[in-house]
Amino acid sequence: MNKIEMLNSIIKSSEYIVFFGGAGVSTESGIPDFRSKDGIYHIQSKIPPEEILSHHFFVHCPEEFYTFYFQNLVNLNVLPNVCHQKLALLEKQKKLKAVITQNIDSLHEMAGSVNVLHLHGKMEDNYCIKCNKYYPLKEIMRYTLPKCSCGGIIKPDVVLYEEPLCTEILDEAVMHIEKADTFIVAGTSLTVQPASSLVQYFKGKNLIIINYENLNNLPATLVIQDSVCHVFSSIDLEEE
Ligand code: OAD
Repeated sequence: MNKIEMLNSIIKSSEYIVFFGGAGVSTESGIPDFRSKDGIYHIQSKIPPEEILSHHFFVHCPEEFYTFYFQNLVNLNVLPNVCHQKLALLEKQKKLKAVITQNIDSLHEMAGSVNVLHLHGKMEDNYCIKCNKYYPLKEIMRYTLPKCSCGGIIKPDVVLYEEPLCTEILDEAVMHIEKADTFIVAGTSLTVQPASSLVQYFKGKNLIIINYENLNNLPATLVIQDSVCHVFSSIDLEEE
C-alpha cells in the first residue's frame, strides 16, 4: 500500500478526525507562509517582520504596522484550495469534527467548514481598542490608519507576538484533540507555542503529518512529505 492509499484507508476507518493546520494550508491559494524562503519573515525590511507583528510595535507605530500588514498579510483576492474544500466535505460527512488553524484567513469558512477554531484570530474581525466596536476587514482597508468613530484605533483581532491566545478556543481545541481517533497535522512548522504543543494531547490511533519539510520527533503513523493540495486532491470522498 502506498502512502496515499494508507491515508485513504485511515480516513475511511476514522470516526473522529481533527485537522490542525498552519500557513502551508493556504500557500497554494496564494498566501505566503512565514518561515519558508519566500515567507513573510524573509521580507527585507528595515524593521524585522517579527517585530512589526508584535503587540508593542502595534501600540507605538500603528500606521507602520498597518502598512506592512495590508501589503503583506492581507489579500482579498484569494480562494479556498482543494485542502480547504475536502476538509469541508469531510465535516459534512460527519467524520471531521474540528479544524484547528493558526491561519488568520477565512478560507476554511469560505470552503464551507463550520467548526473552525482560529488559534491566532481572524483578520476579518477588527475592533476599536477604546470602545470595542466591530469593523469588517473591507471597511478598515480604506484607511492607512483605521480609526473608530469614537477616535480609538482599530486593531485586527489577530494574535500578535507578546499577546496571549484565547483560552476558550485553546481549551476547545484540546478537547477535540483528546477525543480524536485521527489527528492530521498539515502545513505547519510547529515552531510557535502553545500551538506546537497541541500534538501532545493526542492519544488516538493515527497521527498523520503532511508537510514539505520533515518534522522530527513526532510519533507519527504516517508522514507525507508533499504538497498539501497534492495530498488532499488524492483523498477519495464521495460527494453527497
Ligand atoms: P510556517 O511558515 O512556520 O510553516 C509553514 C510550514 O508549511 C513549513 O514547514 C513549510 O515547509 C510548509 N509548507 C508550506 N507550504 C506548503 C504546502 N503547500 N504543502 C506542504 N507544506 C507546506 O507557518 P506556521 O507553522 O503556520 O503566528 O506558523 C505558525 C505561526 O507563526 C503563524 O500562525 C504566525 C507565525 O508567527 C502569528 O502570527 C501569531
